[in-house]
Amino acid sequence: MTIEVTTAAMAHGGKAVARHEGQVLFVTGAYPHEVVQAEVTEAKKRHSFARALAIFEPSPHRRAAPCPHFGPCGGCQWQSAEPGAQAEWKREIVADQLRFVGKLGNVEVRPTISPGPEFGYRNRMDFALVGGRPALHREESQELVELSVCLLLVAPLFQLFVDLPIRPLADRVTLRAGVATGETAVLFDDEHGVIHEEVAGHTFRVTDRAFFQANTAGAEELVRLVTEVLAPGPNDRLLDGYAGGGLFAATVGAGCREVVAVESDPVAVADLKANADLVPVRAKFESSRPRLPRSWDLVVVDPPRAGLGREGVETVVAGHPRTVALVACDPASFARDAALFTNAGYRLEYAQPVDMFPQTFHIEIVGAFSR
Ligand SMILES: C[S@@+](CC[C@H](N)C(=O)[O-])C[C@H]1O[C@@H](n2cnc3c(N)ncnc32)[C@H](O)[C@@H]1O
Repeated sequence: MTIEVTTAAMAHGGKAVARHEGQVLFVTGAYPHEVVQAEVTEAKKRHSFARALAIFEPSPHRRAAPCPHFGPCGGCQWQSAEPGAQAEWKREIVADQLRFVGKLGNVEVRPTISPGPEFGYRNRMDFALVGGRPALHREESQELVELSVCLLLVAPLFQLFVDLPIRPLADRVTLRAGVATGETAVLFDDEHGVIHEEVAGHTFRVTDRAFFQANTAGAEELVRLVTEVLAPGPNDRLLDGYAGGGLFAATVGAGCREVVAVESDPVAVADLKANADLVPVRAKFESSRPRLPRSWDLVVVDPPRAGLGREGVETVVAGHPRTVALVACDPASFARDAALFTNAGYRLEYAQPVDMFPQTFHIEIVGAFSR
């Protein structure tokens, strides 16, 4: 079914919201305040999904997308919108999720920080391979789109991508670079490789596919923001949950009396040992309580997309910290966790969106909680 609708706000997930015959409609390929012709792709009881076919009245923030693959390629959703508009939509989405999901309507959501260039920022990218050439999925599809370029890659990876050797039998490739060190790795399928990256004056070893922030300028900004939230002092014990290779333990924790770091991935745990002067707790954070000290003064937690959940928040607050920095990559789970912290007696002082992934709907958020 083809309809004409006027979009309102941008929704979590990167689609514009419209109303049609009293029902909420999420429109892929549309931006806020546009009049679009849309095809309904999925009709549900409470809301429906549609895809923009034609833009009758475009947003003033529309621009020509620089990448020839924009549209079919599912890697970027917002490339045809100006970066300032993207940043503001991200701020609004965080505020909406806090209001509607977390029931926290009065929280200060600061203007989005854009830490680096809007293109050429990804120090890591995972691609499928089609006939040896890199490909990404079409949005919400299993179909692969073969790519001749990817404008999100940092310069050394852009060149590696273009010159990628053909491995006819390989299914996927991970490209990794240390922006400051100039080191690169091309990892086909399950191949191994190590690079080093510098953030906040500290050198990090990053092994294989272990997690490391994919935007180096963004990582630098996260360290600055978490330091600002926690204001660590020499008498403080810091708990770093979901510690990865030690980005926060080795930087924010440097000024603390002690750092307790929890991480479940064995490869990241080995990096963490090498990168920060500590013995990590290798465990799932939510169930790590028996292996942790009785109390801690400060916490930084940076969980995967699903967030901390009830058990994760209980683990954080069990040590009675005075301040918690929650680093989140999903605004809905951030809002859910913020509500759990509020119920546990903490106040969300402010939320700071960071645009780690321009051209996409992905949002990084730093939340500052105190007792
Ligand atoms: C978003 S990353 C953050 C890493 C680190 N804070 C950084 O900025 O580089 C999340 C990390 O949590 C780890 N992880 C995932 N689930 C976990 C769990 N249940 N308990 C502990 N660590 C977990 C992952 O291996 C990953 O290293």
